[in-house]
Amino acid sequence: MFRENISLKPFNTFGIDVNANRFATFSSVDELTSLLRRKEENEPLLILGGGSNVLLTKSFDGLVLKNEIKGFELISENENEVIIESGAGEVWHQFVLNCLENGYAGLENLSLIPGSVGASPMQNIGAYGVEIKDVFEYLDAFEISTREMKRFKKDDCQFGYRESVFKNIYKDQFVICRVAFRLSKNAKINTSYGAIESELQKMGISSPTIHDVSNAVIAIRQSKLPDPAVLGNAGSFFKNPVIDESLVEKIKLTYPEVPNYPAESGKRKLAAGWLIETAGWKGKIVETCGVHKLQALVLVNYGGSTGKQVYNLSSQIIQDVEAKFGVKLEREVNIL
Ligand code: FAD
Ligand code: EPU
Repeated sequence: MFRENISLKPFNTFGIDVNANRFATFSSVDELTSLLRRKEENEPLLILGGGSNVLLTKSFDGLVLKNEIKGFELISENENEVIIESGAGEVWHQFVLNCLENGYAGLENLSLIPGSVGASPMQNIGAYGVEIKDVFEYLDAFEISTREMKRFKKDDCQFGYRESVFKNIYKDQFVICRVAFRLSKNAKINTSYGAIESELQKMGISSPTIHDVSNAVIAIRQSKLPDPAVLGNAGSFFKNPVIDESLVEKIKLTYPEVPNYPAESGKRKLAAGWLIETAGWKGKIVETCGVHKLQALVLVNYGGSTGKQVYNLSSQIIQDVEAKFGVKLEREVNIL
């Protein structure tokens, strides 16, 4: 059941070629339990979904378990909304399409995000004005130490911008097995993110359906984000920094045009893509990796790059941006 000493290249969207000591997939909680029973006491464990938010900087000297728990289930339904549950191993975009086909609204702005349903709460995935916390109902996760299933409601997850308890206090302690969402039968279209409005105009649509919004989001994403099947990447490598207003004012003295948006507790969010581009990194190639030419927030593997090379590139960018703007970028991707 375990495969030994296998390459993880097909299992991470950066396409980094490192090995794992032992590897297996599981498609049910029973299979997961039985695999964990055979895990050695101090053997490191990595739970993997689609591998679209990890950078592997070295071989994984332990056990990698890939989640393939499938299936959708309608948990409850009334005139206005449904609660729908998905196995954590379902492909996120397939789940979104399935909901759209059934006329369930709420996930259309999150179309085409790579990865699995199970990883979506890890960093509260978000795009085009929506985060999963907006539609999240609960998740069921297997606690590794007690071998018990626990249910987490929205408040238990402490969702924030690209954050949840599973990335912090409960890091590596739970395997998310099922996730449930509360979706609407009466579409509440959200086109607040400017690019959606202009894309819909381009498409000649004035009263958009949820399918139109999904298609607009897909078109925008395809126009600037590299397809991992063609060019290795993990989406935004850094978070957009949330900083004090006073620092924004300081940056504005030299760069009055700096893009900045309201954030929590009176702070401001800066566009990391703009900071990286203005620091001169957009489109730069360093050995076999680089900064994408259309989206400076995305680091790419042009082929044969190691995780360490990508990591070192990210460190240089962090240093440069800090020296230029006094803002320290934080990595969004999970470094392993
Ligand atoms: P993985 O990379 O497999 O895992 C990520 C982390 O979660 C790891 O630490 C892993 O151990 C853990 N994990 C995975 N599954 C489980 C589980 N079932 N239980 C416990 N822990 C688990 N993200 C956004 O938020 N918005 C975007 O717009 C966006 N665009 C992207 C565009 C591209 C081209 C790419 C490549 C990535 C993009 N991402 C985006 C990032 C990525 O798609 C998401 O973070 C996604 O949720 C990762 O899913 P995954 O299954 O691939 O996770
Ligand atoms: N910008 C530049 N140069 C660039 C890229 C961006 O100047 O090369 C500036 C522009 O001012 C632009 C602004 O940044 O208006 C915002 O750009 P964009 O709409 O592309 O969004 P982003 O901030 O770069 C974030 C998320 C994406 C998500 C999009 C759409 C983060 C870290 N990234 O990117 O998420 O898809 O918004 O909502 O929050 C991911 O997390 O992997 C990811 C791709």
